[in-house]
Amino acid sequence: MNHMPVVIFGAGGVGQALFRQLVMTREVVASRNRCHFDIVAVLDSSSWVWQPAGLSDEQLDQIIKQKETGQSLGSDRPEIQKIFDILSEAGLVGGLLVDVTAADGMEPVIDQALESQHGVVLANKKPLTGPWEHTRRYYNHPCLRYESTVGGGQPVISTLRYLRDTGDPVINIEGQLSGTLGYICSQLDRETPFSEALAAARARGFTEPDPREDLGGRDVMRKIMILGRLAGWPLEEADIEVESLYHPALSHLSVSEFMNASVAMDPSLADRVRSAKEEVQVLRYVAQVDDNGGSVGLTGIPKGSPLADLKYISFRTGRYKDEPMMIGGKGAGVEMTAAGVLGDMIGLSREML
Ligand SMILES: NC(=O)c1ccc[n+]([C@@H]2O[C@H](COP(=O)([O-])OP(=O)(O)OC[C@H]3O[C@@H](n4cnc5c(N)ncnc54)[C@H](OP(=O)(O)O)[C@@H]3O)[C@@H](O)[C@H]2O)c1
Repeated sequence: MNHMPVVIFGAGGVGQALFRQLVMTREVVASRNRCHFDIVAVLDSSSWVWQPAGLSDEQLDQIIKQKETGQSLGSDRPEIQKIFDILSEAGLVGGLLVDVTAADGMEPVIDQALESQHGVVLANKKPLTGPWEHTRRYYNHPCLRYESTVGGGQPVISTLRYLRDTGDPVINIEGQLSGTLGYICSQLDRETPFSEALAAARARGFTEPDPREDLGGRDVMRKIMILGRLAGWPLEEADIEVESLYHPALSHLSVSEFMNASVAMDPSLADRVRSAKEEVQVLRYVAQVDDNGGSVGLTGIPKGSPLADLKYISFRTGRYKDEPMMIGGKGAGVEMTAAGVLGDMIGLSREML
């Protein structure tokens, strides 16, 4: 059995789902891949737990309980360089670093990991969406995977990579890349006022704690930027037009004030739903990109078309010109995202061991 040391940054929704999946899949990963992931360290924003022999499954369960009850992981986390020193002093080389945070500024950690011959798996989109000059090095790096950054566990990134690898030029990519906004649009179809649809999405836990994070469209912008860059277009943020679903004047409100103020957006969105219906269309929050740039925002989509069905990302390419290649299925959620991360970990371990 090959033992692969793993350091995990982030112990939130996706991180905890990953810990559960690591425990549940021990046997299948061992029998199919002859690999055992030794989780040697878990870090959150302020603390860490370190076990050079690998945390036991009971300890991973305990971490989930600690995070659920708002406790720290253990001791204060050391400086990044110190973490790598500790790893190498313990002889833990050639392992994996997993970033399941939503943190800014992870690039030095990723760079240090790659320099130290570790593989890197990202669910965090931010390191991939900085200025192209600084992030291009990550896109085709043989030891860096990021399948779950777009479409959760669906094979979106690997499909795009396969299309490029086999010389199929990508013409354009489009899809609905936010489960939260997809849910809100499906409620608008039923003539639910926007403010009620938003409140329902929030009550069901589909939105970020501050729903403006979803409504602003930046997370979707990051996803389509990753796809566009992987398709071969060196896009910057300025190349992607983003329609925010709230007015900038509402930015300074508290979350509860914003939820109350969202009623003011009901009439204009109801008008747009009505206009779309008159054209036999439904309103969807669509991201699209081609070599000229991209856009993210509300668009009328023909009713009954695959994109209207909320579930597809489509690639129009040289080979798939008349009928685009489509990937569909449930894309959002912590379990799917964690499965995408686990799949990347297994893929890298197969190549590295
Ligand atoms: N949730 C989904 O369905 C979904 C789907 C696709 C992709 N993603 C992506 O997956 C990532 C994680 O999402 P999530 O829902 O798990 O987020 P989350 O619940 O907010 O958890 C984030 C975790 O990262 C930790 N963290 C923050 N800064 C850190 C740092 N500098 N070093 C180490 N840990 C740090 C936080 O620590 P504290 O606990 O101390 O705050 C927290 O444990 C995000 O990038 C998100 O966009 C999520």
